Amino acid sequence: MTDEAHIVTVGVANDYRGKGVGELLLIAALNHAICRGSSLATLEVRPSNIVARSLYLKYGFTDRGMRKNYYSDNREDAIIMTTDHIQSREFLSQLNELRKNHELRWGSAEINLE
Ligand SMILES: CC(C)(COP(=O)(O)OP(=O)(O)OC[C@H]1O[C@@H](n2cnc3c(N)ncnc32)[C@H](O)[C@@H]1OP(=O)(O)O)[C@@H](O)C(=O)NCCC(=O)NCCS
Repeated sequence: MTDEAHIVTVGVANDYRGKGVGELLLIAALNHAICRGSSLATLEVRPSNIVARSLYLKYGFTDRGMRKNYYSDNREDAIIMTTDHIQSREFLSQLNELRKNHELRWGSAEINLE
């Protein structure tokens, strides 16, 4: 949406969770948003989804509001999580640091933004 990158779905197959794949997907999505000139990234997450919330908090997303009865399966509310300005020096430097740490921990991966 215009200058706002909306992350709709992030998912990793069960057998591959906990191995840095979700984090790599988020790094790629944020890189993509930065390259496209977006000013912030936003998403919705279930309050009960501790794993996803922990991942998003690590990458600078913070709680900005709620959407009532957002999920159609159980009518659970959604928390809206949004970054600060993703083109800012602070955000870019934090993202670069996280990306380097991810590479040290899990090995290098080519991120293709095509
Ligand atoms: C959420 C999801 C995408 C995370 O992907 P993943 O590959 O398992 O996560 P990673 O191995 O990359 O871990 C990245 C971070 O996620 C969080 N995390 C991962 N596993 C966790 C666990 N078991 N408990 C708590 N936090 C966890 C941590 O913040 C972790 O960073 P850290 O290792 O420095 O602590 C994945 O669990 C998933 O597909 N879940 C089901 C679908 C879903 O809920 N999608 C999100 C919808 S908003």
